[in-house]
This record gives sequence, structure tokens and C-alpha cells, in this order.
Amino acid sequence: MACVTPKSDNCFIQSDLKHSFMQKNHNTQLYQTWNERWKGSEESEQLTHMGRIMFGAKKKALKDLIKYLSIESVIEVGCGLGHTMSVYEALNLDCIGIDVSSHAVANCKSKGLNAILQKIEDVSVSYDLVSSDGMLEHFLNFEPYARHLMRISRRYVILIQPNHVSFFGKTLAYLAELIRSDKNVFEYNYRIKDFISIFQENGFMIIKNQPVFLDVFRLLLFEKGPCRQLS
Ligand SMILES: C[S@@+](CC[C@H](N)C(=O)[O-])C[C@H]1O[C@@H](n2cnc3c(N)ncnc32)[C@H](O)[C@@H]1O
Repeated sequence: MACVTPKSDNCFIQSDLKHSFMQKNHNTQLYQTWNERWKGSEESEQLTHMGRIMFGAKKKALKDLIKYLSIESVIEVGCGLGHTMSVYEALNLDCIGIDVSSHAVANCKSKGLNAILQKIEDVSVSYDLVSSDGMLEHFLNFEPYARHLMRISRRYVILIQPNHVSFFGKTLAYLAELIRSDKNVFEYNYRIKDFISIFQENGFMIIKNQPVFLDVFRLLLFEKGPCRQLS
């Protein structure tokens, strides 16, 4: 029997296919950009003075928060050069880092960190804590990646996100664009409440929303709600 698809459905299917093709293409380019960004970092890593202070503030906030959580296993998604991941390692948690950039992974390995080349899309194991610092804002549409973070979380998700509406957040983003636009990987202007909405809609409640480094960043802790399944 011939399968007849109404014209309007056909249009939707075609537009869905086009959309997913465009998204895949965008991500392939984004992943190449990240790999270029970290090229050579395994030989010499240059962190600016500002970068050192910024990571120091993030690490302290993360460390102070983690000690109150009852967790054993952690995955750091988009581990980059391992600054965030090193906090989990220092706390002797069973931690793995994943990244799409082979240069980032080589850099982490040279520091003795347990990192592998993998995309969040391909992770099938789950962890007590899923953590990600500075990844979601680089996607044209961050929602599918936020869903992947939730999918592999047994209990908590931690995000560290730039707060583009704070005074210093705006100022620093402007200065970074002015001084290092050739080096920076483009980030979209999401608001903190955009991240919170998507997680809450999917049954992950916000339990901590803490300013870090003069509110340039927010440390967000989500906990999986007791009775909702991921939609
Ligand atoms: C801003 S960097 C993270 C820096 C890191 N927090 C640190 O401490 O060095 C974001 C990272 O996310 C990685 N990434 C982007 N898309 C990814 C994906 N789908 N799965 C895993 N990692 C991804 C990038 O390669 C990049 O290294």
C-alpha cells in the first residue's frame, strides 16, 4: 500500500531534516574551532593574569560547594585545559573529563588528569554529578546539550556560566572582544534565567545560584526532582 503523507506534514519533515542538518553542520564547525583554539596548548599553555584570577575564583566557589554534596562519581563535560576538573581530582572524587578537542585532552593528560576524547552526545554512562564550565553558551541552540547533561546525571548538574547582564560581565565581554576577539570562541548572549528555565522544565530544580568573580559568572547547582521523568 502506498504511504501518502499530507503535504503539510511533508513540509514539516523536510524543515526538521533541514534544521537537524544545519545544526550538525554548525557543530562540526564549532568542534573544529575548539580544536584549533587548543592547538599547541599541550606544549605551552598561556593563561593571562586575569585568566588566573578568574579560574582561582571559580575553583574556590566550586570547592566550597562540593563539600556539601554527597557524591562519588563526576564527569566534567568540556574539560578544556582541566582547570575546573582539577578541583574534583584534588578532592579525590572519581572523575572523568571529556572533550571534543584532542589538544585539550592531551593537555589534561599531560597534567595527570583522567580525560578522554568524547562528545557529550555519545556518553551512555551516568554520574552522581555532571559538571560543565563554559560550554553551553557556545551553541547556537544550547537546549539539546543541556538535555544531554541531564540525561547522564543521577542527581546533580553544576554549570558555570557567564552572566552577560551583570555590569562586570558586560564590561569584561566587551573588553575580551576588543582585545582577544581572534582567539575567543564566539559565545551567545544567553541569560542565566534561560539555563534555569530549561533545567526546571526538565525536572531539575535550581538549588544554588551563586555569583562568582564580581558576578561575571554564575555557579548554578541543579538537583534532579524526585518524581519527574526527563521529557
Ligand atoms: C570554555 S572550554 C572549558 C574550559 C574548562 N572549564 C577548563 O577548566 O579549562 C569549553 C570546552 O567544551 C568543549 N566542548 C564543546 N562541545 C562539546 C561537546 N559536545 N562534548 C564535549 N565537550 C565539548 C570544547 O572543546 C571546550 O574545550
